[in-house]
Amino acid sequence: MHVIGGTASTALAERISRELGNSPFGIPFTKRFPDGELYVRVGGRLEGDDVVIVQSTRTDQDLIELMLLEDAVREAGARRIFVVVPYFGYARQDRRFFPGEPVSARALCRHVELDADEIITVDLHSSQSLSNFSKPAFEASGIPAIARLLRERPVDLLASPDKGGIDRVRRMAQLLDRPWFALEKKRIDSEHVELSLPASLSVPIEGKHVVLIDDVISTGGTIVEAAKLLKKHGVGAISAACTHGLFLRDAFERIKAVTDEVYSTDTLGNPAEKASVAPDIAQILRRQAPG
Ligand code: R5P
Repeated sequence: MHVIGGTASTALAERISRELGNSPFGIPFTKRFPDGELYVRVGGRLEGDDVVIVQSTRTDQDLIELMLLEDAVREAGARRIFVVVPYFGYARQDRRFFPGEPVSARALCRHVELDADEIITVDLHSSQSLSNFSKPAFEASGIPAIARLLRERPVDLLASPDKGGIDRVRRMAQLLDRPWFALEKKRIDSEHVELSLPASLSVPIEGKHVVLIDDVISTGGTIVEAAKLLKKHGVGAISAACTHGLFLRDAFERIKAVTDEVYSTDTLGNPAEKASVAPDIAQILRRQAPG
């Protein structure tokens, strides 16, 4: 099995190839034409082999690169193409909120699967989006990777910044054998949220080390407000952990200013990238392509 790392996911792709027992790993040659269009070329002998392409689609350019890589690998005669999209862009628009809008997640699934035989992603905004794929598609979780890291830290409690994250924080709580709770979140606009403690909080939080667990940190608004709220209620130490760390603009600095530690997985490159999802992705690949 060959592993190819797109420019958005080179480091993670290399980690996946190591997890697969040092399977052949390659970085495609890329350049821009004078008009800005992307050129890619994959190396190595791929004919008749299973090939894994790893490329997060954080930007529109990343998506174009992925589509070109899929076509290049198909042209090179690959037997089966496993497309790994660690961070799947556009996943948050997973339904039509207003008339005239697209279901962006569905549109992207259709394009990503074009030359793929199987698709693997990590913590989709909504797992239901997997049903948009017409080919076998699997979702790894960032929770075990973060749990492997938190096991070595003195964590008292886990918290989700909103009710939508209850399954996530519950899973982490099970892995670490710690209590959990979820805050109430009201979104004002894309950058502002209002948070409050749940009406019935059954665990004492004063003086405790609470880790906030989220799937995505984007503008940082949610985590900053959650940390401020917990501080106001006497929490001793606060950490923030997420699968996908976008950290837009000064989000990382703003979060660092109100927390003690920030953790993210390596689905996207960022300053908090401390846990790797490579073992979890490799596990799915080994299951789907044994031997
Ligand atoms: C919301 O549903 C997500 O789980 C995150 O809480 C949200 O996307 C974080 O966004 P931001 O960092 O911009 O507050």
